[in-house]
Amino acid sequence: MRHKARGSVREGSTRVLLCCGVLTMIDSAPLRVGIAGLGTVGASVIRLLERQAQALKGRAGRPIVVAGVCAREKGKDRGVMLDSLAWFDDPVELAKSGEIDLFVELIGGDEGPARAAVETALSHSKSVVTANKALLAKHGLALARLAEAHHVALAFEASVAGGIPIVKTLREGLAGNQIERVYGILNGTCNYILSNMETARRPFADCLAEAQKLGYAEADPTFDIGGFDTAHKLAILASLAFGTQVDPAAISIEGIEQITLADLEAADELGYRIKLLGVAQRTASGVEQRVHPTMVAKSSAIAQVMGVVNAVTIDADAVHELTLVGPGAGGGATASAVVADIADIAKGIRSAPFGLPSDMLTPAPRAPMQMHEGGYYIRLTVADRPGVMAAIATQMGKREISLESIVQRSRPGKKAAGVATVILLTYATTEHTVREALAAIQADGIVSETPQVIRIERE
Ligand code: HSE
Repeated sequence: MRHKARGSVREGSTRVLLCCGVLTMIDSAPLRVGIAGLGTVGASVIRLLERQAQALKGRAGRPIVVAGVCAREKGKDRGVMLDSLAWFDDPVELAKSGEIDLFVELIGGDEGPARAAVETALSHSKSVVTANKALLAKHGLALARLAEAHHVALAFEASVAGGIPIVKTLREGLAGNQIERVYGILNGTCNYILSNMETARRPFADCLAEAQKLGYAEADPTFDIGGFDTAHKLAILASLAFGTQVDPAAISIEGIEQITLADLEAADELGYRIKLLGVAQRTASGVEQRVHPTMVAKSSAIAQVMGVVNAVTIDADAVHELTLVGPGAGGGATASAVVADIADIAKGIRSAPFGLPSDMLTPAPRAPMQMHEGGYYIRLTVADRPGVMAAIATQMGKREISLESIVQRSRPGKKAAGVATVILLTYATTEHTVREALAAIQADGIVSETPQVIRIERE
């Protein structure tokens, strides 16, 4: 078999290796990198490439040099020296420049300059490294097709779970497994908020403001707290794990905006923690993909993950269970993943972006949430009078929902107002049955607030 180096090979820059009977042409000229987007991550990538230059040269078999950069403001102090680098005002110009072999996109956004520049780079047969989960979730399939058509790499380790090498783990490390479920904490901002609310008993808004100040949150934090950022990352993981076409429309999404201190306290007393999880699971009716606040047993590995840390658990047939834990956001961690992709491309590694050639990826129809099976936490605010608990139990019993526990709490302020809190934990049932029972309880006229429902995920 003969592998031909393509695209950016410059004259006199190739070595021919005969290894195990395989003739391989390795490019030994420096890999010239263009970086678009010089925010926290972009500046960290430049610093990491500088700091690790010698080690990377050894590992990749060739030097890696930053040849051109692009950002909105040229004069801004980013704590890195840019004087010797070619400056581009327009990322599309950088993407097609003859000065670079590889384009790194750190601009963000699923359209506009990020999409235009990535498409331009791939069309000009330049490999692309990106941390842009929103772009991949929306256009990943089309971009993978473009990369394949031009025989270049599209690499995106940094797009999911920051510094955790989860893309490589799913695509290469677990290639011999059938994956049953992949789930995890994929948004550092939400985990930071929920952890701080729980441990410091601080309100949601304060914890969000802190996460923004620390630079974890997206430019529009609705992406974090509304579950959309987790959904983008889950869409990528599901494609890698199940060979489906990346498709965020297949995901049922709920954010953490409605989670209150009362829920976190109740979870704590019941032996649970609340985490925003992204879950993709093989079921009889297809791959179920969902993002929602989730109760996890305090004893589980995922419950130990606090702060901006991310964790991904994979259930697979040969390896059984594997959990990877690490920093999910921040300049250094994300740059680590970007640089790993750059090093792979410098070595000449070019995998199918989503693990399978794009024409083998199958559509991922949305599995209806109503068919989801699992345990539920339900918090009801009810009239504090005789017969209420019996009425709730009756509606649950009628639908054969088995209760693990039912507790009534009367707090001084609430008691005076004539209301009490009832917390139920159910054994496994379906979403449809739970919603039907809650509608019947509401119709009985005993509930004074919209019920809070949180799904329970078992290890
Ligand atoms: N806003 C994201 C997070 C950044 O909080 O996880 C990393 O993707």
